[in-house]
Amino acid sequence: MVHLDTDKLPRHVAIIMDGNGRWAKARLRHRVFGHEEGANSVRDVVQCCLELGIPYLTLYAFSKENWKRPASEIRALWELLKRFIRSELPDLIAREIRIVRMGDPEGIPGDVLDELQSAIALTSQFEKLTVSLAINYGGRQEIVRAATLFAMDVQNGRIQGTDLTPDLFSRYLFTSHLPEVDLLIRTGGERRVSNFLLWQMAYTEFYFTRILWPDFRKSHFLEALRDYQQRERRFGRTGEQLRGKSKSESLLDDRPVEMTESSGITH
Ligand code: IPE
Ligand code: IPE
Ligand code: MG
Repeated sequence: MVHLDTDKLPRHVAIIMDGNGRWAKARLRHRVFGHEEGANSVRDVVQCCLELGIPYLTLYAFSKENWKRPASEIRALWELLKRFIRSELPDLIAREIRIVRMGDPEGIPGDVLDELQSAIALTSQFEKLTVSLAINYGGRQEIVRAATLFAMDVQNGRIQGTDLTPDLFSRYLFTSHLPEVDLLIRTGGERRVSNFLLWQMAYTEFYFTRILWPDFRKSHFLEALRDYQQRERRFGRTGEQLRGKSKSESLLDDRPVEMTESSGITH
């Protein structure tokens, strides 16, 4: 039984759901079978977020780079996504889950986009859990899009170019209405971000697991949360500052280190 501190849960978890193809191959099945089975893992994680009260979950479902895959796999992925949203919608509504989308709508087949749009519209009033689906998404593309939108606002005289700050820039991103990403989970054993949420991950905690996505269950999610809770998120501060040492102690700690030869510091 994994012990979790309910006061230290992440508010926003993002997942790179990787390993479907290898999962299927290991069973001598077509890669698409792995994608289909991955839907069960999505259900498990969504349910877990609801139970724990984690209010934001972002799932990487299709990257800009995934267009390089065989056309038959891409077609199957769209078909699966459409079917999944259609079949889950009544349940999403019953459980008050809001669906949002991030990524480029251009290129997504019309019927898939329609299905998504109706799920987004029919769940827009819910606040219990927001599931954000990254579809036809790329982190670099998102940043360029934000820069373009900002440039247009400058051109239209709505804003001064010199007013730009990181906070203002964030408002042009798909995630403008979402809190900071606290935890990124990547299944499937790779330790890279694959063009996911590049701007947003400045202070995200990373958790990599070799478990393939279709095998990822509630117990694995809880283990990732437990690992997250062991981390000390310093955001540039010192550990002592965070642990709230007494004022006199922290003042001592904050004295600058003298970089003289006799101080013994050689690097
Ligand atoms: C992730 O699983 C799903 C998508 C990218 C859509 P993969 O299909 O990448 O599975 P592996 O990495 O080939 O095993
Ligand atoms: C990342 O997985 C994209 C999604 C999970 C949707 P990939 O399997 O496409 O990533 P790479 O190609 O191994 O980096
Ligand atoms: Mg992969």
